[in-house]
Amino acid sequence: MLQVEPRVTQAFVAGRWLDPPRRFPVRSPASGEVLAQVADCGPEEARQAADAAVEAFAAWSRTTAHERAEVLQRWAELMLRDEDSLARLMAQEMGKPIRESRGEVRYAAGFITWSAEEAKRLGGELIPTHASHKRLLVMREPVGPAFGITPWNFPAAMVTRKAAPALAAGCTFVLKPAEQSPLTALHLARLWEEAGGPPGTLQVLPCADPVPVADVLLEDPRIRKLTFTGSTQVGRLLYERAARTLKRVSLELGGHAPFLVFDDADLEAAVREVVACKFRNAGQTCVCTNRVYVQAGIRDAFVERLAAAARALKVGDPLDETTQIGPLVDEQGLRKVRAHVEDALQKGARLVTGGSHRGLFYEPTVLVDVRPGMRILEEETFGPVAPVLTFRTEEDAVRLANDTPYGLAAYFWTRDVGRAFRVAERLQYGIVGVNDGVPSTPHAPFGGVKDSGIGREGGRWGLEEYLEVKFVSVALPA
Ligand code: SIN
Repeated sequence: MLQVEPRVTQAFVAGRWLDPPRRFPVRSPASGEVLAQVADCGPEEARQAADAAVEAFAAWSRTTAHERAEVLQRWAELMLRDEDSLARLMAQEMGKPIRESRGEVRYAAGFITWSAEEAKRLGGELIPTHASHKRLLVMREPVGPAFGITPWNFPAAMVTRKAAPALAAGCTFVLKPAEQSPLTALHLARLWEEAGGPPGTLQVLPCADPVPVADVLLEDPRIRKLTFTGSTQVGRLLYERAARTLKRVSLELGGHAPFLVFDDADLEAAVREVVACKFRNAGQTCVCTNRVYVQAGIRDAFVERLAAAARALKVGDPLDETTQIGPLVDEQGLRKVRAHVEDALQKGARLVTGGSHRGLFYEPTVLVDVRPGMRILEEETFGPVAPVLTFRTEEDAVRLANDTPYGLAAYFWTRDVGRAFRVAERLQYGIVGVNDGVPSTPHAPFGGVKDSGIGREGGRWGLEEYLEVKFVSVALPA
């Protein structure tokens, strides 16, 4: 049996655990049971957090990168110490299968250790001078107190992918976690406190309604950075709001990832990567493929294998070690998946496998005869449904893949090295997986182009988002 840690349900503001007068329920999507009643923050707590973030920034930004790295490294160690309880929290509050949740804890800790190390290497520059009595220096400084809004689909990794580079760079960080998954974020805050993170450096404001909290932090000119992962629609609104105080902005928004399978592919390997890409987290990631395009001659062989692999996935209790597909996060998520499948079937698509659900558990589904005009080809499904289409030529495949307003991730499978480079270069996406359905890793840049967002997270690109450039010109006395 896994050890269940006591759940942290208070908000974490200015280094104190707060009990605002209101609370909201967090439910298990698997059973519907109420897991906890969590502190429901509002504008008052947001104002306190903004003040504390500004106050803490004065001291934290003056610590050395080495000092900050020590706290961050301890934070990561504590996360790994609590790997099982964190994984269990995630499995319970948003339904990610326990084995996948453990993987997420390690992925999340990876953002911390990488940022802690890399911040030590963030040097400045001495640029060649144009005047012999001047010395020209370029320094890098933290942008200031940052505000992050994170989604429920990666309750730990999306927090650390934002907070770790911010804290490593010397920023302070106010977090508004998703309503569906605040328990993991609060546990991370407790570990930050245990690691010796000074009061006000990391704060967590759970809330049932994000708008009043976000309003305060977006309007506050002292908050210098907004970072958000979520839908393109909400991202646009936040971008407009952040513009009023000219905050630095990173937005990791929706996607509609194509996966191209060329007829020179190793079919077994291509199916394995499509399954990993599509059915990971029950299809609830921004980088899960939404459209599988297979070269016409191999379609039937591919579909047969994909359907068999989808049928073999075990759907069930996220706490069961053998489960591969857990429930969708909520009714709204289920409604969307059902609507996409129904729309496709009404417009002529054919169900090869799946298509039904029990509660929030949706069966891994494969559709063929999918055509333009179906919702599933235009909107992000965020569920375990793989629509399969065909293409004839490489030219055709690239055109179809790029025919979307989104540009987060794209994938393809080929054994032809020339094609690997040609196609990778022509895909208008921030991330391209060549024979790789799960490319994300803490030290590489993650983010998209077009309607998929602005900026990058992960690696040194993720750290740059929290740094300002300062030019210092020193005129030497005569
Ligand atoms: C996301 O869905 O935004 C994150 C996926 C990943 O990190 O691979």
